[in-house]
Amino acid sequence: MQDITIKTATVESVIHCGAGAFDKYAPELKNRQLFIITDSTVDKLYADLLNSTFGENAPKFVFKAGEKSKNTRTLLAILQKMLECGMRRNCLVIAFGGGVVGDIAGLAAALYMRGVHLVQIPTTLLAQVDSSVGGKTAVDMCNVKNVIGIFYQPQEVIADPRFLSTLPKREIRCGLGEIIKHGALNSEIFKKLKANERKLTKLEFLEDIIYYNIAHKANVVTEDEKETTGLRKTLNLGHTTGHALELLYGKLSHGEYVLTGMYYELQIARNLGICGGQYAKSIEKLILKVLKKVPSFDGIEKAAELALHDKKNDTELISIIVPKCEGESAEIKIKKDEYAKYLKQISDDLRG
Ligand code: NAD
Ligand code: GLY
Repeated sequence: MQDITIKTATVESVIHCGAGAFDKYAPELKNRQLFIITDSTVDKLYADLLNSTFGENAPKFVFKAGEKSKNTRTLLAILQKMLECGMRRNCLVIAFGGGVVGDIAGLAAALYMRGVHLVQIPTTLLAQVDSSVGGKTAVDMCNVKNVIGIFYQPQEVIADPRFLSTLPKREIRCGLGEIIKHGALNSEIFKKLKANERKLTKLEFLEDIIYYNIAHKANVVTEDEKETTGLRKTLNLGHTTGHALELLYGKLSHGEYVLTGMYYELQIARNLGICGGQYAKSIEKLILKVLKKVPSFDGIEKAAELALHDKKNDTELISIIVPKCEGESAEIKIKKDEYAKYLKQISDDLRG
């Protein structure tokens, strides 16, 4: 078990990471005025653990599992219940679940009485390696992902791989999407992924790699908490296209769209001569190991309009972050029509 710290101008956030972290650190929280937020699937699996750790009387808000719940309606319902339960300014919100729970609970904690304490206890691989760390909170609105949100750092994150034992294989693959993203940005993670290509979904491998992913993200967030210098923007590799496809089609999960987005953006980088050779092949191989088959889409050109609304764009051009060489990425900005043409071409090539 190891601790990683994020120190920003306003807050210090400690991430307890590794097997045993929950048993060691969660009981320490129980003397506070707690408000637990989770989703229906996680609650079914872990209600007993929550009761025995935090007490049966701790108020809990449970919403229907899934990205569709990540909206202002759920957010307002949470805030209303916090008020009804008499939560005080020194209360502590516990986000117990995947990235959807973490993002919405984080935003509720940031808004309630102008900000109350927050602890993230991520239960998916994706949330452990990415979303619970770094303080991005958000809900979706009007078919734009994460458009209402705020940076709000948790005081603590408890990332314990014990929760991965109940996670469906498909969700493990989604988390691997973000891990491969970090691999395309960090050469230590890339080397570990390459050396363990056959073991990517094995629990022993994941237990080890989670730490390196959190450490990478923590370094980035410590240097560029609010995405002002461009460093944190690199963490959006694969996401411009991933988010646009997720909004347009919505059938796969977030992680699967991120993997798909990474594949499409890698091909754009290849076409533009930014990334190539053996390195591009290795990244592609990792994506294919996890995704098995990259989807093609009817009408994919329409994703360009959605990508144009992505938060990363500060001009009329679409910004995408692509791998360049080991440990290095590049930002490219392309016109909507050119981007749409690439998407269609790549999708057609996948159909063969
Ligand atoms: P999720 O929260 O919807 O969880 C996926 C599914 O797994 C859900 O059905 C959930 O109920 C279930 N689940 C959770 N823990 C489980 C467990 N231990 N055992 C069995 N089932 C479990 O999705 P996710 O993939 O964790 O997160 C995706 C979300 O995270 C998206 O909304 C995305 O935008 C957001 N995200 C945010 C950041 C950030 O920096 N804030 C980064 C990446 C992704
Ligand atoms: N997941 C991207 C970020 O946290 O910046």
